[in-house]
Amino acid sequence: MEIDRKSFLASLGGRATLNRMSDEAKADALEDQMLFELSQASASARSGEGGHEFPTAAEVDEQVETLPYRRGVGSLFVNPRGNVKKLPPMPATPTLVDFFALRFAGTANHVLQSANLAKRNGMSEEIILACLLHDTVQAMIKVDHGWWGAQLYEPYVPEKTAFAIRYHQALRFYEDKENGYEYPDLYRRMFGVDYKPEPYIEATYQMVRKHKWYIYPRQVTINDLYAFEPNVNPQLEEFTDIIGRHFKQPKEGLGFDNSPVAHMWRSIMRPDSPL
Ligand SMILES: [Fe+2]
Ligand SMILES: [Fe+2]
Repeated sequence: MEIDRKSFLASLGGRATLNRMSDEAKADALEDQMLFELSQASASARSGEGGHEFPTAAEVDEQVETLPYRRGVGSLFVNPRGNVKKLPPMPATPTLVDFFALRFAGTANHVLQSANLAKRNGMSEEIILACLLHDTVQAMIKVDHGWWGAQLYEPYVPEKTAFAIRYHQALRFYEDKENGYEYPDLYRRMFGVDYKPEPYIEATYQMVRKHKWYIYPRQVTINDLYAFEPNVNPQLEEFTDIIGRHFKQPKEGLGFDNSPVAHMWRSIMRPDSPL
């Protein structure tokens, strides 16, 4: 598997953030990327050979007892390929940028690519910010990450941004060809080709579809993507203006401001704590 190490590492968040990542964090991010590309390559090879390209929902369900962890667990809390590594310490008053550099390595590349695409497509700053943040809570938990993510960010971002983050998860399951959104193959692979979303997802979709703000979470899904573009290396520094204008950084640091979600930031900061 050929991967351009230098440009991939540069894409993780710019020189300043890269310098603060441990070697282990860089190696993990690189390994995640290679595994992702390998799985993409083998899936397309299988389809080319006439094997079935995607599992059924029943086949996905059968995999449950083949894993020592559950698929909804946050990426900081489990390493599917061996032991977890020591995490670098965080500053006393951590900022969003510190979390990107020190805890969000698993999703940083994906969300930077998404924010970059949103910027290229002329989205508003609130939606570019939503794209930049939309999957980062997956460090803590993956199941229902739209709701968890919106909750994590709600005290600090514009209402439209939180709305877009909350509902992008449900809208991902529903096509909107008029707005340029098609159901992704990645979901056929993750959930099974015949998967039907849970009733609460369907009800949420129906509610959001009629909402006056429908287009905001839809814009996140349109600018969401699941491929590393080798020659596109968005840097976190390109978004610090938008973060500065729209993210209310608490002076005590995220996790220490007594907000209703401070404990969530501390859980991301200290996932090794046994209680
Ligand atoms: Fe997502
Ligand atoms: Fe995403």
